[in-house]
Amino acid sequence: SLVEEATRIAREFDYPAEQVQRGVSEYIRQLNEGLAKENTTLSQIPTFVTAVPNGTEKGLYLAVDLGGTNFRVCSVQLHGDTTFSLTQSKIMIPRELMASGTSKDLFLFLARQIESFLRIHHNEHFEAHLRRRLDGNHEQDLFDLGFTFSFPVRQFGINSGTLIRWTKGFNIPDAVGHDVCALLQSAIDELQLPVRVAALVNDTVGTLMARSYTSPGETGTFLGAIFGTGTNGAYVEKLDKITKLQHMKDAHYDKSTGEMIINAEWGSFDNHLSVLPSTVYDHDLDAESNNPGVQMFEKRVSGMFLGEILRRALLAIHNNPKLAIFKASETSKVSLPSDSLFYRQWGLDTSLLSQVEADTTKDYVDVKAALKDHLKIENPSNDECEAVKILVHAIGKRAARLSAVPLAAILIDAGKLDSDDVVDVGVDGSLVEFYPNFEGYMREALREVPQVGDAGNKKIRIGISKDGSGVGAALIALVASKDETLHT
Ligand code: BG6
Ligand code: GLC
Repeated sequence: SLVEEATRIAREFDYPAEQVQRGVSEYIRQLNEGLAKENTTLSQIPTFVTAVPNGTEKGLYLAVDLGGTNFRVCSVQLHGDTTFSLTQSKIMIPRELMASGTSKDLFLFLARQIESFLRIHHNEHFEAHLRRRLDGNHEQDLFDLGFTFSFPVRQFGINSGTLIRWTKGFNIPDAVGHDVCALLQSAIDELQLPVRVAALVNDTVGTLMARSYTSPGETGTFLGAIFGTGTNGAYVEKLDKITKLQHMKDAHYDKSTGEMIINAEWGSFDNHLSVLPSTVYDHDLDAESNNPGVQMFEKRVSGMFLGEILRRALLAIHNNPKLAIFKASETSKVSLPSDSLFYRQWGLDTSLLSQVEADTTKDYVDVKAALKDHLKIENPSNDECEAVKILVHAIGKRAARLSAVPLAAILIDAGKLDSDDVVDVGVDGSLVEFYPNFEGYMREALREVPQVGDAGNKKIRIGISKDGSGVGAALIALVASKDETLHT
């Protein structure tokens, strides 16, 4: 029957304890390889940020944030007492700019958003700058801007870096290999805005910095992670373990802390699939994506992909002549038009999974609402709802359990579980925020790793650092512009 077939497919998404453990060992191996060499599956990118904040930092900074669901411009006033005020505007990036335009189109679009933000929220400052520009004296009063750019970038310093590859559906080939800070600065200069791009920041690094600023413990925050459209993490690494830095002798950074934040780019963990679980749906999703063979971990874990995995699994049942899901028949009242999103690549949004998983009713109230919102499906049968629910649960749970792998591996490798100290982790992103019990399933898998266990799991404090990357970008702009070190 339909429900039996859904249950059979759901089992293909099981990710048992021994596979979690194998994943952790292999992650530790790939992590260390990435610290030593370039062009490895885990990029382990040195960020040149060498300390985390303690909440006393002060100042007014601009930040822009590209790479999540929304593009944001914000200004952040850091009050110096672990609090801040944030003014922000959010918009969706037009699809045509993400995947078909040129990098010039994209960066000019970003600069125009900065311009209208300044006009609305900081117009006096803007006008004063324009007057001074006429007097030929305009270097003094530039806003320092932190650029949160959530894609893999090879960094050469705190404010420069070249794009390695696009991820998460972005695809603007002429930007690859170029310095994204320089691209943004030239668009800003073209519009004559009073803004200097002072720092380049991955969203995970921003999340880590923001969490450390707002909830500083005795040791600060150790790791920042995103489980949203994409997934990735950044953590504090010992400088002497980052042996590939020896090949970057010209890079300028403060060595006194003996540490540097590493952007892991864990979305690309195990691209060659030595330990990652794989179903035919994972395989086909990748083969038909615009970047086959990379971001293989991300393609099993993050928001952009879970809806598509689900769609492919449901479609397999739909195409089975012996079973009826979403096709008019004796058991189903549903008939879908041929242009339904159900038949379109990326047609299902991950928020559908969160909605379905949240259903605790006996008569599938939320599942039905989700099917209606996302696919305009009316009157699905209980079996159809149950099949969707079973698959959603399996796909979401595998994602959450997989998420334990990098977390456990990084904590173990850094020796963070050897003492009794609490380890602080900041997280952000639509999946961890909205998918019910994502953290719970992740913790279940963490406990199954022998070097973590129940005791280790209890020491890991995980907190949401909502919209933290704007604040984090401001903090890094502060370090860069004043050449200040953070007070650790
Ligand atoms: C936002 C951060 O809160 O979360 C972004 O400001 C980040 O920097 C994003 O990329 C991740 O979540 P999502 O779900 O928008 O990809
Ligand atoms: C993708 C990007 C990475 C980012 C993550 C979360 O994995 O490559 O840089 O941190 O998405 O947004």
